[in-house]
Amino acid sequence: MPRLCFISANTWFFQPLLVAALSLVGCSSSTSSPSADPKGPPGSVARKYADYFPVGAAINNWELDQAPEAVADFNHLTCENAMKPFNIHPSEDRYEFAEADRIADFARSHGFKMTGHALLWHRQTADWWFDGLTAGDPSTIELLKSRLKAHIETVVTRYADVVDNWDVVNEVISSYDHVYRDGSEGSKWYEMFGNEEYVYWAYQYAHDALEAVAPGSSVGKLYYNDYTVTSKVDKILTMLSWLETRGIRVDGVGFQSHEYMNWPGTDELQGAFDRFVAAGYKLKVSELDVTVYDDYATGGFVPSPQVEYTPELADAQAQRFASLFSVYRANKDNITSVTFWGVTDNRSWLNYVPVEGRADYPLLYLDPKTPKAARAEIMNF
Ligand code: GLA
Repeated sequence: MPRLCFISANTWFFQPLLVAALSLVGCSSSTSSPSADPKGPPGSVARKYADYFPVGAAINNWELDQAPEAVADFNHLTCENAMKPFNIHPSEDRYEFAEADRIADFARSHGFKMTGHALLWHRQTADWWFDGLTAGDPSTIELLKSRLKAHIETVVTRYADVVDNWDVVNEVISSYDHVYRDGSEGSKWYEMFGNEEYVYWAYQYAHDALEAVAPGSSVGKLYYNDYTVTSKVDKILTMLSWLETRGIRVDGVGFQSHEYMNWPGTDELQGAFDRFVAAGYKLKVSELDVTVYDDYATGGFVPSPQVEYTPELADAQAQRFASLFSVYRANKDNITSVTFWGVTDNRSWLNYVPVEGRADYPLLYLDPKTPKAARAEIMNF
């Protein structure tokens, strides 16, 4: 019964944190409550990392309602889904703000900042954006530009006070030989424009929307976000310098960091960090989780069978988290936040992707009441 081992090994943590969490959850005023500490409550992961970087989690309403003690570990928040184009802008004339507003109010009331995820992405974007449009047609491009401008202005303006970094553009770099993800890899943006010009417009509109809120307020906030970044460094730098020649300053690069137990190695990660820092960019770890599977170990995709999450596997994973966090700590001057992609294993996207229904164990909590060895290890320095 590995779960029981984890509970008994970590019960010390719940007493103070639980009290702090319960006093904080449910507070929904838009100003910081007197009891809230932007560093996170005593005993939390965030408090332990207060001298390094904010430690965040991607959450939904569910985590606020069902996992308040675990959510209290974090002092930076991302909406797992609520700010994605599909969720927040389901049809052209309708925005759905309720869930993002609630999470933003929760962050405001605690004095926390958020990641705005994501303004332009080829996935989780409703069909209305592209329906009936003809690829490459000048009127298509003008219509998409005006839709993108309206979307970005609306979302950025609403959360400008609480978001300290925007994933303006998510996952436009290809894992294949060419630089930009194109129509064959599911990018309607590329297909409709016929080139990468939409990337430029997304940054321009985000910049302009923030500057309209307050002059200078775009500075430091415009990020590019992607997965397997260590293998895309050259291409991402190519895109960033192209944007620079167009007058766009991107502030930093988000390493999604959906990691494996053995890849990327810490040297490879440090090498990628160094290249972006040398080119003048900040870094963030934006979607951290560590799967216990490696379906690509042989090169192609071969789904691994379900494993039992034994204490030995939990310890090995905890060591992996510990070595990642030691790299992050060593780069604290350039890392603006470290965010987990979720709070509890039982709610992770990795239970559905890439193998539907295969239980994975990629986060710091098995379930809302059960912190794991990984949590203890990243606190052990
Ligand atoms: C990508 C996206 C996230 C999320 C994860 C997995 O990394 O950026 O929004 O969808 O995939 O769920």
